[in-house]
Amino acid sequence: MRVLSVASECAPLVKTGGLADVVGALPAALAREGVQMRTLLPGYPAIIAALTDTRELSQIDDLFGGTARLLAGQAAGLDLLVIEAGHLYQRPGNPYLGPDGHDWPDNPERFAALSWVAAQIAAQGAGDWRPDIVHGHDWQAGFMPEYLRRFGVGDIRSVLTIHNIAFTGPARPDRLHALRLDPARFHSEGYEYWGQISALKAGLIGADRLTTVSPTYATELMTPEFGMGMEGVIRHRRADLTGILNGIDSDVWNPATDPAITPYDRPAGKAPNRAALRAEMGLPDSDGPLCVIVSRMTHQKGLDLVLESLPALLDGGGQLAVLGSGDAALQSAWQDAARDPNVAVRIGYDEALSHRMIAGGDAILVPSRFEPCGLTQLYGLRYGTVPLVALTGGLADTVINASPAALARQVATGVQFWPVDALTLRHAFSRLCALYKDDQTWSRLQQNAMAQPVGWDQSAQAYAALYAELTATE
Ligand code: ADP
Ligand code: GLC
Repeated sequence: MRVLSVASECAPLVKTGGLADVVGALPAALAREGVQMRTLLPGYPAIIAALTDTRELSQIDDLFGGTARLLAGQAAGLDLLVIEAGHLYQRPGNPYLGPDGHDWPDNPERFAALSWVAAQIAAQGAGDWRPDIVHGHDWQAGFMPEYLRRFGVGDIRSVLTIHNIAFTGPARPDRLHALRLDPARFHSEGYEYWGQISALKAGLIGADRLTTVSPTYATELMTPEFGMGMEGVIRHRRADLTGILNGIDSDVWNPATDPAITPYDRPAGKAPNRAALRAEMGLPDSDGPLCVIVSRMTHQKGLDLVLESLPALLDGGGQLAVLGSGDAALQSAWQDAARDPNVAVRIGYDEALSHRMIAGGDAILVPSRFEPCGLTQLYGLRYGTVPLVALTGGLADTVINASPAALARQVATGVQFWPVDALTLRHAFSRLCALYKDDQTWSRLQQNAMAQPVGWDQSAQAYAALYAELTATE
């Protein structure tokens, strides 16, 4: 089985969030299931620079306003196909944003080009390799089914994974021609979305199968609260939608071998890491739980609710260390909050520090308003860092709430709260502090957390089964 994975980011080469982790982890996870996956990426400077064994497979005369080359090569242990197109991708920094912090105005064309080349590979192959299935991720691969049709390759099956429905890939209707789309399909049953073109909607209506990154998010997507206006389309496609949980890279996130920390394989081994984290963050000693957050700072992630509820945590003897970046107002609100001696904040993106925080923290907070899957609560589980999470999306599917019943049966792995508001979060903080004070209960939570499988095995099997089913129905 040969699968072309099509994505706009891929860890460890280019990453803005969990999408990159998943795209980077899938090929190795699926290789164990007998799936040969190659990953098609835009040739951003960081990717071109990392590529080794580079071969030119073909030249493309007109790729949305300039010439391009399709390259094959390796980077970070991955088999990559890379679109070298200076006019689209030779730009420094974040893959989506210009220096002004706004989306590049030609993002529709930049990622239409990604989908276009994916369809071209499906039609003509890349060298002597031709995929049986094209598997795109998020809106950046949304036009791929449209272009497959245009290239006349109906026999190639397509899958689109929704990592986050909040990003719809909008473009003005006057771009129809420039985006090489069939104007006859610009209507509400097609890829029109509130008067605009939506790359995501094109994928939602066009792909043979849809997946998303947790079973609960798959259900939530059908509701107005979470569907962001796409709930009708999703409901229409419900028979073709599957929720498959993300795993984590259990080599990169392994407390027993992690080079960024003092390694451990039992909860007791967290003590030196906790002490080191307090020292590094300038936090005093305390008998309460040291909580950590590693997150993009956006409305989705609910960090404003933590600011509002913070007194309940601090009054319970808790402390908080935050690593994140994003929204300017949130960043500065957090910088203000760090005036409290028991709150430490680092604005920025720092992979190694994220490991030290997850190893050193007693609890990890993920109070998201919505969360398709979420990865940091999974890191928390693996590191015996008890997750305190909102009861939504993948957070609902991966944490067992410390309810009286779950505690009695000794199966709890964390704390969940719902509804996602500051009042409920305050209660959750009080519960967390009380649980922490009870040594036996806390240590049971940690052990349960560390015993929970969070790798890719099961989910890789689910993707492989989906691919097999899809090609069997040809
Ligand atoms: P999302 O993709 O919505 O941001 P996920 O939880 O799926 O949420 O993935 C976020 C990923 O980005 C995780 O690997 C997390 O550790 C990482 N991350 C987020 N912010 C930072 C940061 N400031 N420094 C280091 N890693 C970060
Ligand atoms: C998105 C979601 C996150 C998910 C990640 C990887 O960024 O916000 O919940 O874990 O994609 O699928």
